[in-house]
Amino acid sequence: MSTSTLTLPGGTWTLGDTTVSRFGYGAMQLAGPWVVGPPKDHDAALAVLRDAVASGITHIDTAETYGPRVVNELIREALHPYTDDLFIATKAGGRRDAQGGWPSARTPDELRAQIDDNLETLGVDSLDLVHLRLGDANGPVPEDITEAFETLVDLQQQGVIRHLGVSNATADQVAHAQSIAPIVSVQNMYNLANRWDDELIDQLAAEGIAYIPFFPLGGFSPLQSTALSTVATRLGSTPMSIALAWLLQRSPNILLIPGTSSSRHLRENIAGAALELSGEDLRELDDIDA
Ligand SMILES: NC(=O)c1ccc[n+]([C@@H]2O[C@H](COP(=O)([O-])OP(=O)(O)OC[C@H]3O[C@@H](n4cnc5c(N)ncnc54)[C@H](OP(=O)(O)O)[C@@H]3O)[C@@H](O)[C@H]2O)c1
Repeated sequence: MSTSTLTLPGGTWTLGDTTVSRFGYGAMQLAGPWVVGPPKDHDAALAVLRDAVASGITHIDTAETYGPRVVNELIREALHPYTDDLFIATKAGGRRDAQGGWPSARTPDELRAQIDDNLETLGVDSLDLVHLRLGDANGPVPEDITEAFETLVDLQQQGVIRHLGVSNATADQVAHAQSIAPIVSVQNMYNLANRWDDELIDQLAAEGIAYIPFFPLGGFSPLQSTALSTVATRLGSTPMSIALAWLLQRSPNILLIPGTSSSRHLRENIAGAALELSGEDLRELDDIDA
């Protein structure tokens, strides 16, 4: 059965040439602590991936740096051969060091090696979507991206990358990438409490480009706010569900990739994101980052 026949909260979005569920899955949490090494429970990690796809998710976000290699290899073990409707987005532009840090690695040779690693670990001949991962662990940095982005464009022309995006990027870097080649998505940090990309999201929506917030639930520091808890309690829901429902209602070009290592949390998040927030709820939540 094609999983795309199942309906998830938010419906679908067309990423390049593929229709994906707006409710996707971010696979980073499947690696060991601090995204290093294997998961505590290998079978449970495989089960989360299979449950995600069985529930109708057709967009999975990964990176060769998760583990490193570990998460891509789990995806391959759980889901290969991939169904035609499964869209796997990955990244290039960084590496891991011996301390678990995330230094940048964006020379043409480094990028080509990362694309080769992604192809090998995911077990594919071409990657559906590669985000050029920019900036550093503190956020976007106004660096020149020309050579790095042109390297990925070259690989796209060779057929090993189908679509391009940028991640952890400033609005100027997004515009600069677009002046070199079309992008289908921007993946930046954004959630109820961190909304510096509001203008960029609206601009991308008008251009038909997806905005994929990372840390939608706050990442390593779960979102906490009195207003969020108040709305959740009033609606008989949870802060995590409200945060996801808010993102889906924020703009049609927002695609969710919440991360979890738990099938129970995955089910809770899918069910919770379907909640319809009223105008009053939205006003209260919008004030969190006012
Ligand atoms: N482009 C980039 O630079 C970049 C950077 C970071 C992340 N990403 C991508 O974005 C995705 C999402 O980010 P993220 O996973 O770091 O952060 P996130 O989605 O904001 O939050 C994940 C955290 O929330 C917890 N969680 C999830 N559902 C829950 C629930 N129902 N109840 C309680 N806790 C819950 C998870 O713990 P459990 O495992 O216990 O559920 C995990 O600790 C990643 O998986 C990755 O694919 C991209």
